[in-house]
Amino acid sequence: MVRVGVIGLGAIGREHLDIYRSIPGVEVTAVADFQRNVADDVAKEIGAQAFGSAEELLAAGVVDAVTLSTPDHLHHDDAVKILNAGVHLLLEKPIATTVEESDDLVRVAEAANVIAMPGHTLRFANQYLTAKNLVASGAVGDIIHGNVRRNNKVSVARRVNGRTSVTFFLGIHDIDALTWIAGEKVVAVQAFESSQRTPDGGQAVAVTANLRLEGGGIVALEAAWGLPDAYPTDIDARLRLVGDAGEVKIDIHDFGMSAFTEQLRYPVPFAGPVYGGPQGMLYEELNAFLRAVRGEIEVPVSMRDAADAVRVAVTIDKAISTGNTEEVVYAS
Ligand SMILES: NC(=O)c1ccc[n+]([C@@H]2O[C@H](COP(=O)([O-])OP(=O)(O)OC[C@H]3O[C@@H](n4cnc5c(N)ncnc54)[C@H](O)[C@@H]3O)[C@@H](O)[C@H]2O)c1
Repeated sequence: MVRVGVIGLGAIGREHLDIYRSIPGVEVTAVADFQRNVADDVAKEIGAQAFGSAEELLAAGVVDAVTLSTPDHLHHDDAVKILNAGVHLLLEKPIATTVEESDDLVRVAEAANVIAMPGHTLRFANQYLTAKNLVASGAVGDIIHGNVRRNNKVSVARRVNGRTSVTFFLGIHDIDALTWIAGEKVVAVQAFESSQRTPDGGQAVAVTANLRLEGGGIVALEAAWGLPDAYPTDIDARLRLVGDAGEVKIDIHDFGMSAFTEQLRYPVPFAGPVYGGPQGMLYEELNAFLRAVRGEIEVPVSMRDAADAVRVAVTIDKAISTGNTEEVVYAS
């Protein structure tokens, strides 16, 4: 039995919780949230212990593994405490919002004798895995050009409430997917952000960037959270890579189905359980984490890759503020 805790019981933390609870051989023993009443309510509902912080949860000694799903900019300090306590860590993306914190997490994770896995969910999506395998097989050839995009509704920006930029919240998914699928690093960046701001006033609604890959190819990235809430899909995500031998294309805006009831909708077909069992990319991610914890597989996503994705995101935000082409500087 793996004893699991979830720290940060917001939108994604609750999804982790539901999935863990449906996996045999897992017991959710503890939950924590900065809003103590939220932790108390969830703990009562599922029969776990409630805590107000990662520190309190760790001190109780009732978990072998945790998900840390607090806001982006708060990951570092709690992640260090978790790793140093010898507890396996599934750390939501982005692992941090600065290069220094990301590199520190890579170091601490290497020194700790535990599994540390970043929550780059697209690594567990069938379409993205298939694209990765195709490109790795050489069937697409050397990547010449392409584009990646991820658009959310404005209610997501409202929930995040200015705590992080759209580059970090959404763009990081595609930065990681692109570099993983292409098998190449991003070496230089040009970028713009929209003048239009999120409802809290603090963040740009949209960011676009031109990314140069180390092999010379160029890819355009678009990350935005400005779709009206009545928009028919929750996520409009695409990826296209063209190589000198072929093309690979992913279009996730309708998942191949639509429904018209009071309005046109593209429901997410893997949102609910299948006959009571979990499914979907987040389930695959958490299950892979647990398999790594049990020693059945190597950890499938490295903290180094996640830190490199943070480097690209930081460089995009830098290129926006300088207006220059910025090189991405990697750890030697
Ligand atoms: N992998 C994915 O597809 C995916 C999707 C959404 C969000 N995320 C990531 O998950 C993380 C959480 O995002 P969200 O949308 O669920 O945010 P959210 O704002 O809905 O929830 C965050 C929760 O953390 C709690 N919290 C804040 N500070 C805390 C602290 N110090 N200790 C304990 N709890 C604390 C808040 O009270 C809140 O309940 C972010 O890093 C985000 O980028 C990943």
